[in-house]
Amino acid sequence: MSRYAHITGWGAYAPPRVVTNDDLSHLVPTTDEWIRDRTGIVERHIADEGEYTSTLGIRAGQRALEVAGLDPAKLDLVICATSTPDYLMPNTASLIQDGLGASRAAAFDLNAACSGFVYALSVGAGMIRSGTYDSVLVVGAESMSRVMDWTDRSTCVLFGDGAGAVVLQGSDRPGGVLACEMGSDGSGGDLLTVGLGTRNPMTQDTLAAGDTFLKMNGQQVFRFATRILAESTRNVVGKAGLELADIDLIIPHQANTRIIEAAARKMDVPAERLFCNLDRYGNTSAASVPLALVDAIDAGRVRAGDHIVMVGFGGGLTWGACLVEWSISPRDRAWPLWWRGVQWTRYRLAGAKSFLHRADRRLATIGSRVRRREHERDNGTPDAHAPRAERNGPANGRVNGRL
Ligand code: UT7
Repeated sequence: MSRYAHITGWGAYAPPRVVTNDDLSHLVPTTDEWIRDRTGIVERHIADEGEYTSTLGIRAGQRALEVAGLDPAKLDLVICATSTPDYLMPNTASLIQDGLGASRAAAFDLNAACSGFVYALSVGAGMIRSGTYDSVLVVGAESMSRVMDWTDRSTCVLFGDGAGAVVLQGSDRPGGVLACEMGSDGSGGDLLTVGLGTRNPMTQDTLAAGDTFLKMNGQQVFRFATRILAESTRNVVGKAGLELADIDLIIPHQANTRIIEAAARKMDVPAERLFCNLDRYGNTSAASVPLALVDAIDAGRVRAGDHIVMVGFGGGLTWGACLVEWSISPRDRAWPLWWRGVQWTRYRLAGAKSFLHRADRRLATIGSRVRRREHERDNGTPDAHAPRAERNGPANGRVNGRL
């Protein structure tokens, strides 16, 4: 029997701090008029100290699980689409998995820049359709403000922070994610970069060169975006055996209203059929599509039975689209207050459990250090079971982990 991957929960979170175009005009030589005219952006949310990609993702994930009415311990997998992870390691999805108390779930990050959420949705749906997993949380979360050069007016006015998430669940009932397509053209990789990585380890030189900040060739990316948005939408609609006229709503990556309008003209569909909330969030990269999806649901633009295309494009260059037959009436997902109380308690318990696990590991580390010191004191030789670094002393002649 065929399995289908349905979206059964959704949630979004944007940090409370709002920065307007006028605020930015005090920082770089720009104006509200330029930003509105050229991009459609009016304001964006910026993460404060103490807020990270994982914490934004946890808030969005909690809301999505609440709507799905799903115990986090029942999740099989958490995928976090992001290009601004908390760390290079551990992955952000594992931090979200821990924060949610999704104790049975596997977790990994997926980086396909602004196409990341659509890629992750496609991977999650594939896992369910193949029978590997039954419940998957797909998160798109970004802290773009942390990789901005706040002296570069050509980029810093464009981006914002936020997160969105959906719960995918398997069912024998036809519907849900009907078709997906993904693509990449790495020859355009240099058009949109955040250069920090193993080619550019963090050094005084890379910091001084600004390699750790986002850089973009806006005009080239604009040209690519207007072409690929229409092309990828057509492809996924064709894959599902439908026509553009059958599509009730298109949720495109939110980078620029001019890109969205140009794509509508190329596809010959009314501009209102492409959802746009860019004015309030700016470009939130992998978070933009799920943030827009949740806003569209809240605005009553999504009904059971609708055909919806989510389409992304961005750094890589990458692009992707998913066509979903929406199967749940958002009105049926208003759970009673007591249920929210149950979820709230679960999250508090998950937090306490995580704290106890960390404390337990810390105590074990302290205990083994104390035992090693005692061994050295009693025998005058290093403990043969101690980690090699401790037995050999500092690395001879090696600087910064390089040979
Ligand atoms: O999510 C990833 C995908 N990203 C995108 O899809 C972004 C695609 N690109 C774009 O949306 C547009 O190319 C931008 C919004 C980034 C730029 O718009 P544009 O119409 O292509 O402007 P431009 O780069 O051609 O710049 C026009 C002028 C320049 O001045 P000169 O050289 O003509 O004197 C810029 O220096 O606008 C100037 N400019 C600004 N002026 C005021 C650039 N940024 C600003 C600014 N405020 N913030």
